[in-house]
Amino acid sequence: MADKYILAIDEGTTSTRAIIYDHQGRQVASAAREFPQYFPEPGWVEHKAEEIWNAVQITVSTALINSAIRPDQIAGIGISNQRETTVIWDKATGRPIYNAVVWQSRQSTALAEQLKREGYGEMIRKKTGLIIDPYFSATKIRWILDRVPGAQERAEKGELLFGTIDTWLAWKLTNGAVHVTDSTNASRTMLFNIHDLDWDQDILDLLKIPRVMLPEVKSNSEVYGETNPYQFFGGRVPISGMAGDQQAALFGQLALRPGMVKNTYGTGSFIVMNTGSEPAESNNNLLTTVGYVLNGQVTYALEGSVFVSGSAIQWLRDSMKLIKNAPDSEAAALASKDENEVYVVPAFTGLGAPYWDAEARGAVFGITRGTSDKDLVKATLQSLAYQTRDVVDTMQKDAGIKIPALRVDGGASNNAYLLQFQADLLGVKIERAKDLETTGLGVAFLAGLAVGYWDDLASLQEIAQIGAAFEPKMGQAESDRLYAGWQRAVLATRVFAH
Ligand code: G3P
Repeated sequence: MADKYILAIDEGTTSTRAIIYDHQGRQVASAAREFPQYFPEPGWVEHKAEEIWNAVQITVSTALINSAIRPDQIAGIGISNQRETTVIWDKATGRPIYNAVVWQSRQSTALAEQLKREGYGEMIRKKTGLIIDPYFSATKIRWILDRVPGAQERAEKGELLFGTIDTWLAWKLTNGAVHVTDSTNASRTMLFNIHDLDWDQDILDLLKIPRVMLPEVKSNSEVYGETNPYQFFGGRVPISGMAGDQQAALFGQLALRPGMVKNTYGTGSFIVMNTGSEPAESNNNLLTTVGYVLNGQVTYALEGSVFVSGSAIQWLRDSMKLIKNAPDSEAAALASKDENEVYVVPAFTGLGAPYWDAEARGAVFGITRGTSDKDLVKATLQSLAYQTRDVVDTMQKDAGIKIPALRVDGGASNNAYLLQFQADLLGVKIERAKDLETTGLGVAFLAGLAVGYWDDLASLQEIAQIGAAFEPKMGQAESDRLYAGWQRAVLATRVFAH
């Protein structure tokens, strides 16, 4: 294995990254590239699937060239991706019939509301583990099929294919030879029965989505197909791991025992708890989802999706111009002297778990004449931790356990102020991964296991490591007092919106 490597393609919401790992799980090369975001109408977010594919080709070739690694030295490829984002393309030409409708996009809200009004909420939750929301792919597919003239008829004839981004990239890499997805991505479409691990015919009928356009659903670690040499710099390489990015991060954190929880602070925050071989039903608006399927064994997870976290720091930088770059937020927060608490509720695109309030919009509370830019930066950083507590508290209620520690990764977990505040607020230890690109590492693990690059889970334990730990220092009474202020702020924000 000395001269062999695993390539992870981590295709995220705003950028795509290619990372090459060696047998010790070390990054030997990596390249990242942002791609354009399109906002055709307020609340709509779209990508061009071809631009995503171009970004993947550029980052993969850059990583290969910079490390002087040849395609034939890649033992397997793993794909992790922004989940739910929906692409429909022409099977014959490979051209998308409409832009990719991004998970954050709200253009199918009317249909989601209609399904709720007609009373399908319980049936859909039981089958898919999800709450009806335009976040998931199902209403986005229906929206595209309605929007593009003739699309429904063509889909019924088998001329169009649907995929989330994993499916699109596997199809492109194999030059159209495979049309597959994995159970984690499928479990975010709102069309997938998480108990049978198959597309659900009742929901397909309800939404008039032809089954023939859907990909075949596979496990997270197996050979799905080989790259076409024309599409992969002359190489025929097995694509052997696929997972939605949040599930890939769960795997990369090796949160493989029931009760283990990870939080990735990315564009949003996605808190995922391993619940073992049985799906845990949430009584409090969390999502039941597939964690991973490995060697025929399914592991389920509970998830709380927070829509805005890292993007609130971008807002401080790009719109409010309170910081020059994201890392500056740490020094600003530490310099904040304000004794009166300020609360920023960053509900820019509504509130996700556990509120699921699409109408809520952001608000700031508690400012005085003495409030400074630094106080606002601190309050915004704190909002990431408060939203995490909202979800973790709910998760503990649903699962009936107290979590021993929270494993964290993602860009904002570089911020030591944030992680200390998070530890204080939750009263549990925060463990930060050594390699913050846990998503890439997780899908590399899945790809490597399928081709025998790594033998088993035990060999992965030696690779994935905790980099730093943050112990709670604040007293429980103080953290509960601060959190109570956050809860009042969220309530007031929601009252204002309705
Ligand atoms: O559910 C959406 C999630 O998968 C997006 O992740 O990392 O692209 O913000 P990220």
